[in-house]
Amino acid sequence: MNSSNKYKRTNYCGELRIEDIGKEVVVCGWVQRRRDLGQLIFIDLRDRTGILQLAFDESTCREVFESAATLRSEFVVCASGKLRERSAKNPQLPTGDVELEVTELNILAKSETPPFEIEENSDVNDALLLKYRYLDLRRPDMQRYIALRHRAVKITRDYFDENGFYEIETPMLTKSTPEGARDYLVPSRVHKGKFYALPQSPQQYKQLLMLSGFDRYMQIVRCFRDEDLRADRQPEFTQIDLEMSFVDIEDVIEVNEGFIKRLFGEVLDVDVKLPIKRMTLREAMDRFGSDKPDLRFGLELCDIGDIVKNCEFKVFSEPVLQGGSVRMIYVPDGASLPRKQIDSLVEFVKTYGARGLAWTKLGEDGSVSSSFSKFLTEEENDAILTRAGAKPGGLILIVADVNEDVVFASLGALRLECAKRLGLIAEGAYEFVWITEFPLFEYSEEDERFVARHHPFTAAMDEDIELLETDKINCRAKAYDLVLNGSELGGGSIRINTPEMQKRMFRALGFTDEEADERFGHLIDAFKYGAPPHGGIAYGLDRIVMHLAGLGTIRDVIAFPKVQNASELLTACPSEVDEAQLDELGLVIAGIFHPPQR
Ligand code: AMO
Repeated sequence: MNSSNKYKRTNYCGELRIEDIGKEVVVCGWVQRRRDLGQLIFIDLRDRTGILQLAFDESTCREVFESAATLRSEFVVCASGKLRERSAKNPQLPTGDVELEVTELNILAKSETPPFEIEENSDVNDALLLKYRYLDLRRPDMQRYIALRHRAVKITRDYFDENGFYEIETPMLTKSTPEGARDYLVPSRVHKGKFYALPQSPQQYKQLLMLSGFDRYMQIVRCFRDEDLRADRQPEFTQIDLEMSFVDIEDVIEVNEGFIKRLFGEVLDVDVKLPIKRMTLREAMDRFGSDKPDLRFGLELCDIGDIVKNCEFKVFSEPVLQGGSVRMIYVPDGASLPRKQIDSLVEFVKTYGARGLAWTKLGEDGSVSSSFSKFLTEEENDAILTRAGAKPGGLILIVADVNEDVVFASLGALRLECAKRLGLIAEGAYEFVWITEFPLFEYSEEDERFVARHHPFTAAMDEDIELLETDKINCRAKAYDLVLNGSELGGGSIRINTPEMQKRMFRALGFTDEEADERFGHLIDAFKYGAPPHGGIAYGLDRIVMHLAGLGTIRDVIAFPKVQNASELLTACPSEVDEAQLDELGLVIAGIFHPPQR
């Protein structure tokens, strides 16, 4: 007999139902638990589809019964027998009407007692879960997330294939270019003292592929950025990366709306209404204090600078006079928040740089308490209440600062915090919005110069091209982001496609022609040979799957993620390397302890 026939599985555990009763079945999986009831032993057997109860009866098959008595959690077995109806049904379990009466049991592998129980929603500490990630991944919820990721990837590939996109791979060992996040570098052995960079995205290659005439490109591709890790950021993550030729913004948006509708429709049965809403960045900031507004609830920002600019209260008037702003949010049922919670909101906004939070609370009984009203005239106070549309039970929250970015950042975060505390965020709502008209440049305090807000290959809006040199702050880009429920799913732009314009952009960014040639000469040269107008977008696949799975972190949709300090606990990387390896690369570690060689 061919040895592989030993495990000729007929079914997955989770798929057996009442109609299968009487069938001869072979299942394989892991022991979830064992229950001994004298002459009967029950085993819950688990595979990636679910759980099936195995029944061992001492009177029918003694040898198999004795073998079953030795089973422990996480042993791997193959069991055969006839499927029968369960006498005590378990309505909690999809297979709860049936059980397998086992007549043959093969123990394929034993297991030590695992460091935690393999069960859904276990509250085991994260470090332990990640150290034993292969066991963590056995948990049913993790199995579902990884399966869902697979499904999302499959739908993505199918959709873009049907729309004429070729999947083309691009290099992982690439040239380090400044701009963007910090690179992960790979030293070259052959070219000592030189380094590759792992790609932050395939941006330049996908543009070159357009130049090569492939017309439509897509890739599901790993990207690397040495930046601080957050709930929606990992140092290595996956993009769904696209580029299209002979297109303008509308064409890119149209194909992508079709994609989003298909993906959310097929995976979640959510009907995304097209066209997706659009909002300029300016509007998003003014109304929501964020470039990735969460539209599942209101609590919009409202400018009150005109009301308070001449008031006696310097905390309000000074910022307006110095070019900053004073804005509020009005929380309709906010007065129900106890004073302690309001105090904690004051502390909350301080973490966003605000110097304080002014508030007015309108009691249901018509009483008013306020942290600032005594410094304002009655007219000024009334004007604020009127603008807020304030009613009894409401709460007004105000931030004033000479730096408008601080006002936006703190109120943007505050509206989210209030919505969470008051339970205003509807479960199961998917609010998509395209954010458009981003500035082409932003000022970097660190570099003390203007840098590209998106990347230096992004085209300016036609009507703003002349501002490239004269008014960088107001020069808008042909760039767009897709936002879902306050999270940036993807971003892209229409690109520059002539060497002249690309050089002009580099000059605007403060590069000399020589510097631009050294770093980006390959692209500028390529553009000399006929580049079609082109544009594209990249999505964070991990983020999309996180939303599809209804999770708050991308970590759970990545099989082997990194932790906060960018290490991977399972393999304990990064790790030291042998002196010999360093020698070969011509590297010397400076200034840190290097452990003696084993
Ligand atoms: P961008 O830098 O906006 O654009 O990245 C595109 C999308 O990738 C996701 N993303 C991340 N996800 C997890 N962890 C990270 N560290 C991380 N960084 C980014 C986000 C983001 O919206 N080449 C351009 C795209 C283009 O112009 O076509 C680019 O990479 O969801």
